Amino acid sequence: MLGSLCYNRCMLIRENVPIAALTTMRLGGPAKFVLEIRNNDDVVAAYDFAKERNLSTWVMGGGANTIGLDAGFEGAILLNRANGIEVISENDTELIVKCQGGEIWDNVVRFACERGYSGIEAMSLIPGTTGAAPVQNIGAYGQEVSQVIVNVDAYDTKTRQFVMLEKSEMDLGYRHTRFNVGADKDRFFITAVTLRLKKAHMQPPFYTSLQAYLDEQEIKDYSPMTIRTAVCAIRESKLPDPEKVASAGSFFKNVYVEKDEIAEVEAKGVPVRREANGRGKVNAGWMVEQCGLKGKELYGFRVNDKAALVLINEKAKSYADLAKARAEIVEKVKNKFGLTLEQEPVEIPVKE
Ligand code: EPU
Repeated sequence: MLGSLCYNRCMLIRENVPIAALTTMRLGGPAKFVLEIRNNDDVVAAYDFAKERNLSTWVMGGGANTIGLDAGFEGAILLNRANGIEVISENDTELIVKCQGGEIWDNVVRFACERGYSGIEAMSLIPGTTGAAPVQNIGAYGQEVSQVIVNVDAYDTKTRQFVMLEKSEMDLGYRHTRFNVGADKDRFFITAVTLRLKKAHMQPPFYTSLQAYLDEQEIKDYSPMTIRTAVCAIRESKLPDPEKVASAGSFFKNVYVEKDEIAEVEAKGVPVRREANGRGKVNAGWMVEQCGLKGKELYGFRVNDKAALVLINEKAKSYADLAKARAEIVEKVKNKFGLTLEQEPVEIPVKE
């Protein structure tokens, strides 16, 4: 049930909103307040609102990588709904665009591809907003947002100032950044992201599944729009559309093993891909599949039959069911391969 509506300095504020209604996994009890942010004034007003009421805050974009707990959230969820894509500069070789944090990520990808710029085309159809992209350093099919980020504009909740952070200040790694790990986790509200894109084509060899698709379709033109179309086709065939099917995309992270552990893991029959830095990457989806879980139902969730890393919420209503499903998958993988899967989506703590 949606709570009452009221307005504070033109900002939409709702009370007692189920987190399930705000997130693509469709789980989670009520958030005490939900505030919709449309501009920088709203950002300040929202943090003032929370401070006056001694509430903790939680920033959310599209809710595509966020899980709510059954007890909900006793604070204020700040929804970033500031839209817009602004061309900062454009010439024969590159485009610099500043995207508002609430802009749908895929709109930015389409915008770039339509103008023939490369850098994010392989990240087509990743659900969610642009402000969330640097938080977990989104990536797909060989591209990562870290490769194209110039800087972000953000509100620093510690100093209560608007700041600009350069890429070098973000500590960007695989699904790991200054924004989601460590002392500065949840410190910044990202208001805008500036990207540098190139008039170029991606070059083969491509990421395995993308290469296979291009070969199969005999595609030899690697323009950004062609790659976008291919990636959309692959994703649509494997990954559920979060608008129609409840899920949070990849539910587990791929597993990275240190150089000196690779041999031991391979001895268990696990394929390990060597990364440039010497570490090994293990496909979590492969392990889940090898445990016989692909397509299986667990406590109202279904392990996606096309990509085993994705957990679909078919009929579960509670986080407790998710916890049981997760424990079963993690345990099976641990027993078979000795590796521990980690959940990818973040969880909103009931109290900060
Ligand atoms: N695989 C299997 N069985 C499966 C799934 C995967 O054997 O059920 C193996 C296959 O060998 C396949 C390989 O794993 O070739 C890689 O699979 P896929 O290309 O589907 O990618 P992924 O590693 O499962 C990651 C991202 C996805 C992203 C794709 C494409 C993570 C946690 N996930 O998945 O991101 O779209 O690569 O680049 O890194 C997301 O974060 O929500 C997400 C969907």
